[in-house]
Amino acid sequence: MGEAKKTDVLILGSGIAGLTCAIKIAEARPDLKITVLTKAVADESNTRYAQGGVAAVWNEKIDTEEKHIADTLDAGDGLCNEEVVKMVVEEGPIRVRELIEWGTRFDKEKGGEYDLGREGGHSENRILHYKDITGWEIQRTITEKAKQLPNIVIRENCFSIDLLTQHHLGYNITRVHPDIECYGVYALDKNNLDVETHLARITVVATGGAGQIYRATTNPIIATGDGMAMMYRAKGRISNMEFVQFHPTSLYNPAVESQAFLISEAVRGFGGVLRTRDGQEFMHKYDERKSLAPRDIVARAIDNEMKIRGDEYVYLDCRHLEMEGFKKHFPNIYDKCKEEGIDVATQMIPVVPACHYFCGGILVDKIGKTSINRLYAAGECTASGLHGANRLASNSLLEGLVYGHNIAMDVVECIDQYDYKEGIPDWDAMGTTDPKEMVLITQSWKELKDIMSSYVGIVRSNVRLQRALDRLWLLYSETENLYNTTTLSPQLCELRNLITIAYLVTRSASMRHESRGLHYTTDYPGLLDHREETLM
Ligand code: FAD
Ligand code: SIN
Repeated sequence: MGEAKKTDVLILGSGIAGLTCAIKIAEARPDLKITVLTKAVADESNTRYAQGGVAAVWNEKIDTEEKHIADTLDAGDGLCNEEVVKMVVEEGPIRVRELIEWGTRFDKEKGGEYDLGREGGHSENRILHYKDITGWEIQRTITEKAKQLPNIVIRENCFSIDLLTQHHLGYNITRVHPDIECYGVYALDKNNLDVETHLARITVVATGGAGQIYRATTNPIIATGDGMAMMYRAKGRISNMEFVQFHPTSLYNPAVESQAFLISEAVRGFGGVLRTRDGQEFMHKYDERKSLAPRDIVARAIDNEMKIRGDEYVYLDCRHLEMEGFKKHFPNIYDKCKEEGIDVATQMIPVVPACHYFCGGILVDKIGKTSINRLYAAGECTASGLHGANRLASNSLLEGLVYGHNIAMDVVECIDQYDYKEGIPDWDAMGTTDPKEMVLITQSWKELKDIMSSYVGIVRSNVRLQRALDRLWLLYSETENLYNTTTLSPQLCELRNLITIAYLVTRSASMRHESRGLHYTTDYPGLLDHREETLM
């Protein structure tokens, strides 16, 4: 097991939020050592798969900060924090410019101006993109940049298990305790399954979302909500977990189990039209913005049409679009469809909604501070107040950039007052034995996805939520038993985290007695006349 590892700043996650923060701290304070733990290879993340792009007010001849703010508030359905929205929208273009300086390429028009795309809920074209693989390009840039900085160490295949707090020194702490502190993490080295103690003066959680609680998700296999679950176990505050965003258009393919391929909303921004299987347009029945309404509206409309007709998918029709332009903008989507036997020029693309993004998460303030001292959080694992009840498309890469920066600026100012905590014990694996049946883990994971997809999906009700809670309780008890008696594996840790996330989503959903943004329940179809946050 060996001695505890020490680093000034410990960052969990190497997506846009984690690496932006690491780079900014490393540049501002070359005297600090920054360690980034990441559970897969450095460039595997939700960030890597982003297609549409980054939203930012860029062409001031047509666009204004006021418009971007209004669109974000409108999508958020009354639950955004207006101060946060204003801050992110105002700071956004500065952060995007830095990304360009670090080497990120965004598509340009012939005249040299950036080619700005449009997505659902945006009143202007303001999405900077690199073809339809913007996330890949950003992840490439930040990974390369971080690797060049001598005071950043990236530990790949290093899985954070739990946050270290006073609990590990023998104190009994409660969720409302005001003085919980974070001293680092226990982490599992996936190469040899050793559990290491990582001590830090400051810790930053940037572990991304949790799409893997559902059967159909656009998220990669790493999106298991580890950071949010760790925070909940450490008795930190978690908020608004019921607001899970389903992207309206993932490519329909029932054979795919782990990650559904996304058909970017930018395709609808380019003119793609949704139709039922018999070729009829339907979005005009739900919203005057039709196929470009905010995605909660579009996803619910598709869900409704599929249920009324007993269909397993709807179509996205691009046949009328100018194909050379389509191929230029969406080469990845075009090629993927072709690989699946769909010629976009002559055939419609079968699509279904899939779990895409978590609007809730670790509660943070404007500089990314959590309810636990010495612990910050950024990106999709947080509830910052930017997205409210529904995220506006392409606002999350922006959030990762802005919060990564804000945290870094605060950390470099305040870190000198903190020292490493002494007395944290090594991980205790006494009494555990090697798991005999991996099938218990894989089957429980499948059951979990079934429960969440059947009862806590796009449309909810009291009965469905209660059914989910009852079944989750059984999975929870079985998995805790397994966790306490068997040697750790990343899969077991992920299952445990996913069950926690599923519980938090379902419990928060049952606490909200209204339908707002992404949370729709048949028992409370209207809006409350006041604003309520769910807090766990
Ligand atoms: P991530 O990029 O997910 O990074 C999380 C990191 O944490 C990863 O490195 C992961 O390995 C690591 N990690 C997780 N758990 C652990 C653990 N236990 N221990 C150690 N490391 C851990 N947003 C937009 O704004 N525009 C778009 O066009 C867009 N398109 C999207 C398309 C797809 C298909 C998907 C899935 C999402 C899209 N999004 C888009 C959303 C956006 O990509 C994400 O919200 C954003 O990238 C999240 O960044 P992050 O840094 O918070 O997390
Ligand atoms: C997309 O390209 O449709 C995804 C955009 C987003 O999730 O912000």
